[in-house]
Amino acid sequence: MSNALDDLKSRCLSCNACKLCATRTNVVFGEGPADAKIMFVGEGPGADEDEQGRPFVGKSGRLLEQYMAAAGLSRYENVYIANMVKCRPPENRDPSEEETDACLPWLRGQFRCLRPGLIVCVGRISAQKLISPDFRITKQHGEFFEKNGTLMTATLHPAALLRDPRKKGEALLDFMKIRKMAEEKGLV
Ligand code: URA
Repeated sequence: MSNALDDLKSRCLSCNACKLCATRTNVVFGEGPADAKIMFVGEGPGADEDEQGRPFVGKSGRLLEQYMAAAGLSRYENVYIANMVKCRPPENRDPSEEETDACLPWLRGQFRCLRPGLIVCVGRISAQKLISPDFRITKQHGEFFEKNGTLMTATLHPAALLRDPRKKGEALLDFMKIRKMAEEKGLV
């Protein structure tokens, strides 16, 4: 299956389906073990990610890794990380509907290759696109949903936690629930 993922990645690296291709430095396809059963989906690359071609490698990424570690999860061992859009929206603006729609086939391809048992939406943008358009991240983070036969949840975006550290306890609880569910479902 990793060959299919490698093939998807090599095609994605030359994508020009939306105008973000004109301003990107690197395509940030996503990364993690090809046998990961848990997939985290963020919003889109920031400046550090665009520079390095890797998801969640800046300040937000370091915080995300700490929460994963608290739940016994690791992007190097059992979690695959991707984003809704694979190219950086300039000035860190939210990706537009047009851009997320244009990029969705790559994410769907990643889902097909990995067949994750749990998808964790990181922040509002991916939760609204993948779980429900009226998803309320402040109220519904940490809840679990089944969609098209796949278990899904959402957690607060680490950038939001950096802006408002009072929310960090809530995020930790999300990760404790993710751990428990992952154990129950045999995903770790
Ligand atoms: N924020 C995201 O949503 N994704 C990244 O890869 C980095 C920051």
